[in-house]
Amino acid sequence: MPQRVVLPQTLEGKTILIAGAAGFVPSTIAEFYLNLGAKVVGLDNFITGSKSNIELLSKYKNFEFTECNIYEGLPNFKDLKFDYILSLASPASPIDFSEIPLEIMRVNSEGTLKLLELARDQKARFLEASTSEVYGDPEIHPQVEEYVGCVNPIGPRSCYDESKRFAEAMTMSFHRRYNVDTRIIRIFNTYGPRMRPNDGRVIPNFINQAMAGEDITVYGDGSQTRSFCYVTDLVDAIHNVLFSEIHTPFNCGNPDEYTIKKCAEEIIKVLGSSSKIIYMPLPEDDPKKRRPNLNKLQSISDYKPKVSFEEGIKRTAEYFKSLK
Ligand SMILES: NC(=O)c1ccc[n+]([C@@H]2O[C@H](COP(=O)([O-])OP(=O)(O)OC[C@H]3O[C@@H](n4cnc5c(N)ncnc54)[C@H](O)[C@@H]3O)[C@@H](O)[C@H]2O)c1
Repeated sequence: MPQRVVLPQTLEGKTILIAGAAGFVPSTIAEFYLNLGAKVVGLDNFITGSKSNIELLSKYKNFEFTECNIYEGLPNFKDLKFDYILSLASPASPIDFSEIPLEIMRVNSEGTLKLLELARDQKARFLEASTSEVYGDPEIHPQVEEYVGCVNPIGPRSCYDESKRFAEAMTMSFHRRYNVDTRIIRIFNTYGPRMRPNDGRVIPNFINQAMAGEDITVYGDGSQTRSFCYVTDLVDAIHNVLFSEIHTPFNCGNPDEYTIKKCAEEIIKVLGSSSKIIYMPLPEDDPKKRRPNLNKLQSISDYKPKVSFEEGIKRTAEYFKSLK
């Protein structure tokens, strides 16, 4: 039987480095750990992150921030000793894949390398944020962690998929070669407040189109599926993995599966919108289905997603309204 996770009640006295702290998921995790009493040091170059997320975190006296591009070199941390290093810096939206593919490849390879070297030198626990994209267009469903994926190494998504696969390989290599205390999470589609309204991912797109009464653009016939996780549920999953004793990857997400068409219809209904759905050509290599098998995480923890799709959509729409 695998060992059950014992979650700490407080992280007072612990110091956490979060690469990508200005981003959607990383700033939410940063706030969670600040509320647990940790000191959090954030790094970001704002390539897809937002200064408002850093302003929000700066209200906590235990938060420090340095603007830097992590693959060009980490700051001199002087006397700072990290207990945990969270490698969360990477653009993650398909619109970024065509605009900044080399930045994506460099942050997941050279950036992750620098963070792993720091974890090795400081004997810190290291967590790599990988993605369900490592499964590519999966041939098995739902996806289990043992599945090695079906990825096109030269397609338009490959800058992201393959660099995350490289990041996983490097994380395991540091664990095997230097005994670094590593964790890997494979995040499935996550949404919520603090996403960029023009992020290009499906949920912010649909919500903003629905709120504006514009046509909702579905790519393909809308029969492709995704499983959407609200961000606080993801934070809960990550927290469980960080405090597990297992080095191999964990799927993190919500197993409720929606076709993209159903997702658009639900958003129209929940937001009481008058938008109509229109159909556009499917982009190359768009995965046909995605759903996490969570047995591995649930065999060691009490993890269970709590926020329904309807509630998550309402909260995310409120956030986008507050920006206007
Ligand atoms: N949200 C999801 O559905 C999802 C799914 C799978 C994986 N992930 C992973 O989770 C992490 C966070 O994703 P997110 O959705 O919050 O995206 P995000 O773009 O909001 O956050 C990423 C942050 O990393 C920063 N960053 C990128 N390159 C950098 C560099 N070279 N130096 C310093 N900072 C840099 C960005 O400015 C941004 O603030 C990423 O690693 C992403 O690949 C997210």
